[in-house]
Amino acid sequence: MKAKTWKISVFRFDPLKDTEHRFVKYTIPRSGVRTVLDALIYIRDHEDDTLAFRASCRQGRCGSCAVHCNGRYGLACEMPLKSGKNTIRPLAQLPVIRDLVVDMEPFWEKYESIKPYLVRSSKTAGRNYRNRRELEKKIDCILCGACFSACLMTGKNPAFHGPAAYVAVNRFLHDDSDAITGQRLAMVKGENGVFRCHNMFNCNEACPKNVEPAENILEIKKNID
Ligand code: SF4
Ligand code: FES
Repeated sequence: MKAKTWKISVFRFDPLKDTEHRFVKYTIPRSGVRTVLDALIYIRDHEDDTLAFRASCRQGRCGSCAVHCNGRYGLACEMPLKSGKNTIRPLAQLPVIRDLVVDMEPFWEKYESIKPYLVRSSKTAGRNYRNRRELEKKIDCILCGACFSACLMTGKNPAFHGPAAYVAVNRFLHDDSDAITGQRLAMVKGENGVFRCHNMFNCNEACPKNVEPAENILEIKKNID
């Protein structure tokens, strides 16, 4: 007979009380609880209302609920719970503010540094992206940060922009209406840029939207002389 409960172990850290993190175990009913986010909401509502986590859309769209669970990164609102123990951790490589809430600032800082927006000029006026199909996966990124956390280089090298930033760079390299292609390539070709990526493909595995950041990085490398 199927067990009627889920076993959940959650990373807990309260900066006002704790000197280091701990894992707290909960046993919660299966009924009405299917995903990691369902479990977190249940625990907050029925077991401990101090549990901190982020979530908004609950539909895999906003990217705010990314966590690590059972050996992989993903969106808490989409990750199914499994039989046996479910261990939920915050995103790695980012400072923990409290429990599963991390400070996304290092991620945003890197992302903003590569100018993730179209820059037009009179020279590129009237031009457009070359092929809409080529953009499809690139514009599916919801900026959840899972690839940033899964990447071994972002942890080692604070100057490395990270997979999501490179996806945005590659998106604009495929757009003839963008006027700063040269500047974009110069930004990412330095010693801390795309060539620091060792093609571990952890970002591809972590990405809940199948954006394939590693392929984007390879494409950028091909554009650099
Ligand atoms: S590339 Fe994928 S994993 Fe990385 S931020 Fe975008 S959606 Fe998240
Ligand atoms: S709550 Fe928005 S992606 Fe999960």
